Amino acid sequence: MRIIRTKNYEEMSRAAANIIAAQVYLKHNAVLGLATGSTPIGLYKDLIEKYEAGVLSFAEVHTVNLDEYKGLAPTHDQSYRYFMQHNLFDHIDVKPENTNVPDGLAADPAAECRRYDDLRETLGQTDIQLLGLGRNGHIGFNEPGPIFVKHTHVVDLTPSTIDANARFFASEADVPRQAITMGIGYIMSAHQILVVASGTDKADAVYKMVCGDVDPQVPASILQLHANVTLVADEAALSKVLEAGVPVC
Ligand code: F6R
Repeated sequence: MRIIRTKNYEEMSRAAANIIAAQVYLKHNAVLGLATGSTPIGLYKDLIEKYEAGVLSFAEVHTVNLDEYKGLAPTHDQSYRYFMQHNLFDHIDVKPENTNVPDGLAADPAAECRRYDDLRETLGQTDIQLLGLGRNGHIGFNEPGPIFVKHTHVVDLTPSTIDANARFFASEADVPRQAITMGIGYIMSAHQILVVASGTDKADAVYKMVCGDVDPQVPASILQLHANVTLVADEAALSKVLEAGVPVC
């Protein structure tokens, strides 16, 4: 795992945006795996700036998002489809039909999960998969559990995730209890994986992801088995890894 240390959130965002931009420069029709949450907002802003400056185009890009809350309409302001439109898609030239987010309102969630996994065949290998990191070590909404779940699935969110995400809702009671998430198999099949992390509340999860055992109780630990992972994290998120003396760039 390549680890890039940055001073703060702004530097983390710039460094991560540059890695995604480089992928799109090299391959105009790249498949980008994207994430929501507060961590990628800055890097999406940087990508929008590159697009507005005329140095980057997403016209041939396809995107596949990791997850969506079950039961939220795409127009709900806390849905991940809404997040992506608001924070990225509406501001760049990606074609709407080339963007993919699970359908949280699907009448048959199991069929929606199968449809989502089939995207891997339709779109081909994801060139770069962006991941945020849950405080409990989740990636996508693959929560800690007894096994790594390979396929796209409906997941019960853990109390820790509900608590962490309550800040976006009027109250904790409004946070959906389930989500549809891409499984570990699709995530691990990406050519390259880019993890972003910022802040001390991620330090423990970052440490376990980098230095801990590969353990489904820390879903991100599976990334130790992927040959091409870059972690871009600020000093606060890396604090425990730095204390342990792990070499970083
Ligand atoms: C979002 C996602 C989640 C978040 C994680 C971190 O699509 O899949 O795994 O990346 O919960 O969220 P933030 O960035 O809000 O701390």
